[in-house]
Amino acid sequence: MEPILLGAPWLIAHRSMLGINQPYKITLNDHDYVLWQNQQGEVFALDNICPHMQAPLSDGWICQQTDVIACPFHALEFDGQGRLHNCGKVGSQPLLTPLEIVIKDDCIWTYGGYTPKIPIPDLIPKVSAGMSFLGVAGEKSIHGTFLDSISINYDYNHQSGTHRELFGIKANRIPVFEHDGYWAKVVQELDRDDSTWNDILGNPVILTAPKTYTGTLEYAFPSLTTFRADFPIGEVLQVHVLYPETATQTKTFVLVYSKPKHPILKLLLGRFVLSAVATVVEQDTRSIETSYPRQPAKIRLPNEEIMFLAQKLYREW
Ligand code: FES
Ligand SMILES: [Fe+2]
Repeated sequence: MEPILLGAPWLIAHRSMLGINQPYKITLNDHDYVLWQNQQGEVFALDNICPHMQAPLSDGWICQQTDVIACPFHALEFDGQGRLHNCGKVGSQPLLTPLEIVIKDDCIWTYGGYTPKIPIPDLIPKVSAGMSFLGVAGEKSIHGTFLDSISINYDYNHQSGTHRELFGIKANRIPVFEHDGYWAKVVQELDRDDSTWNDILGNPVILTAPKTYTGTLEYAFPSLTTFRADFPIGEVLQVHVLYPETATQTKTFVLVYSKPKHPILKLLLGRFVLSAVATVVEQDTRSIETSYPRQPAKIRLPNEEIMFLAQKLYREW
């Protein structure tokens, strides 16, 4: 396949997703790679295909003492530069191509080996200032194109259908929409319906959301959508990450940061927020995966120009 958005910086993992000395497989633009992190926090990334008989290295294991990955088929060992290690001898030539990565704020970025077209965005440190990292939620592969998957993040009407049960949104206003190049900012005001006891029992997180609340969204096209909102128990930041796995499959995960109003609320906030975020991702995924192939829309809704902006950036990349 032609790479999607050639030269875009992709956030492929947060350090916490890799574990220690465990192979972690990613697929980016139809190409498989294996990543691993040692005890000291060094991260290695290689082509996933063993040059002997093409086994997937991500099914192998890491040798702690030497930081090499062993192939699951015949146990040949390769270091992070792709060189063969054999009985203490190191091959002079790499047999596998390392994937170039850049680590910023515990996030692992890559251009997939292509020449950068735009810089790695500095949005995460900017929007997460003063907050602490809570965890990763909603990691999954969506059976949907990158364009359909990113469009829902810029779609200010889908709350009323896709997230109807979770948030009970009855009104949605967009007082601010600014954009500049690949960056955009939206302020969203939401009014919720009254919750019934059944709603609260089924979804206690609803108690943490006030009747009317304001969220600020900032975008770094194409990889990041950030959403920061102030709830009675604390501030929450979600960083929704997307990257193209194949032409029809898109990877997503959400980095969650928080700033509880009181330290005692940290655990509560953490538990509720991570599970609510996972539910949001499930619901978005269902909308993307169950829709019929896109046709030009015969109906217009308010605020859709925000979504059209993202689609224009995609088409004119
Ligand atoms: S296929 Fe990897 S060692 Fe043989
Ligand atoms: Fe959504």
